[in-house]
Amino acid sequence: MDQIRIIGGTPLRGTITISGAKNAALPLLTAALLSNEALELTNIPDLADIKSMIDLLEQHGLTVSRDLEAKKVTLNAQAINNTTAPYDIVRKMRASILVLGPLVARCGEARVSLPGGCSIGTRPVDIHLRGLEELGAKIELKDGYINAEAPNGLRGATITMPIVSVTATENLMMAATLAKGTTKLINAAREPEIVDLANCLRSMGANIQGDGTDTITIEGVSKLHKATHRVIADRIETGTFAIAAAITGGELYLKDTSIDLLPSFISSLQKAGVIIEAGQDGFWVKSSAQPIAGVDIMTEPYPGFATDLQAQMMALMTVCQGASMMTETIFENRFMHVPELCRMGANITVHGSSALVRGVSQLRGAPVMATDLRASVSLVLAGLAAEGETILSRVYHLDRGYEHIETKLRQCGAHIERIKEKEALAA
Ligand code: EPZ
Repeated sequence: MDQIRIIGGTPLRGTITISGAKNAALPLLTAALLSNEALELTNIPDLADIKSMIDLLEQHGLTVSRDLEAKKVTLNAQAINNTTAPYDIVRKMRASILVLGPLVARCGEARVSLPGGCSIGTRPVDIHLRGLEELGAKIELKDGYINAEAPNGLRGATITMPIVSVTATENLMMAATLAKGTTKLINAAREPEIVDLANCLRSMGANIQGDGTDTITIEGVSKLHKATHRVIADRIETGTFAIAAAITGGELYLKDTSIDLLPSFISSLQKAGVIIEAGQDGFWVKSSAQPIAGVDIMTEPYPGFATDLQAQMMALMTVCQGASMMTETIFENRFMHVPELCRMGANITVHGSSALVRGVSQLRGAPVMATDLRASVSLVLAGLAAEGETILSRVYHLDRGYEHIETKLRQCGAHIERIKEKEALAA
């Protein structure tokens, strides 16, 4: 397995262009299942998860052409010849569950492997399944698979989701576009990726209102048609590189993104003493002469502080002046980065879903292990600030969600390189 080697201590300076959002691109790819005409997506990031989703859609019978250079993917679901999403694909990427709603809506059936848990939590899909039943699907769980049937199509319903769920909102919104009648999703997720998906569905002919609020109304239509859509900027990548500027005492311009995508995160960074200045097509992140101040954080559904930025913010708080109480309210096991950060000299104590981070003057490089996508990038951030060498193993976690991260960081002065597996074995 590849490793990443970092020599810390260099303030980053320069411009980083933000890629298209992984968590927008994944549902957008599955939206192609809803129509028998072409869907062209641009600003698609080059990530392992995107490749996995394309592989899954191709095994459903979609024709997919991809221009990596142009970051463009064109999908055509004229002939769906297989409505099963197999375990060996789904287990590698939980977002595969997003084919369920579109397949049932378009084909009247689907057999999707239960995704199972992952390192950050059990990640149930009960809200997805209950919602599809309320839309008229018959759901049966057998041999580790979800068997869903709606031979006479789906019918509109009012669905109150007990927990705010991003992909459940996306699954049900997509399914409802082809249901007969009106669907209302109450307690819907409000993330920018939901609005991006709704914009794409509307360009395909869907009738959707209220996306971005907690109540989304969908008037079903008989069919959807071809469309072209550009994926929004990745707000989590944006926040990650903003922390890279702050933790190294540098100054970065983050291009092709917007502070509007990260309201709570930006205000927390400003409270910590980081200077944020909006630009024409992005924003500046500048370190001030003052040390980073400790800021208390609680993760919440959008527009609250994103759980996907908790690990990255914790890396910054490990070198704050003072302390920070960080509470994770979305997932039950999202502190795997804590023991690894402590190996780098951080002072963090975990009590249940809260972590007390007491700032230290300096982190020290160390060999560390990635455990999940966002924990792994928090270790990269810590390595950029640490004194000495950090070697990060299991880099495949990083490749799932960050496009060419070492190239983007190296261009701003970071001493970071990827050690290919064969070199690592030979070393
Ligand atoms: C999406 O996951 C994101 N993934 C996650 O990003 C992100 O952390 C999460 O939303 C929260 O913002 C994609 O968009 C592909 P949820 P999702 O359903 O939809 C519980 C990353 O790093 N729940 O909003 O799976 C669930 O256990 C990934 O890019 C149920 O109980 O998350 C959690 O506690 C990690 N039943 C809470 O809801 C359900 O049926 C929120 O989860 C569904 C969810």
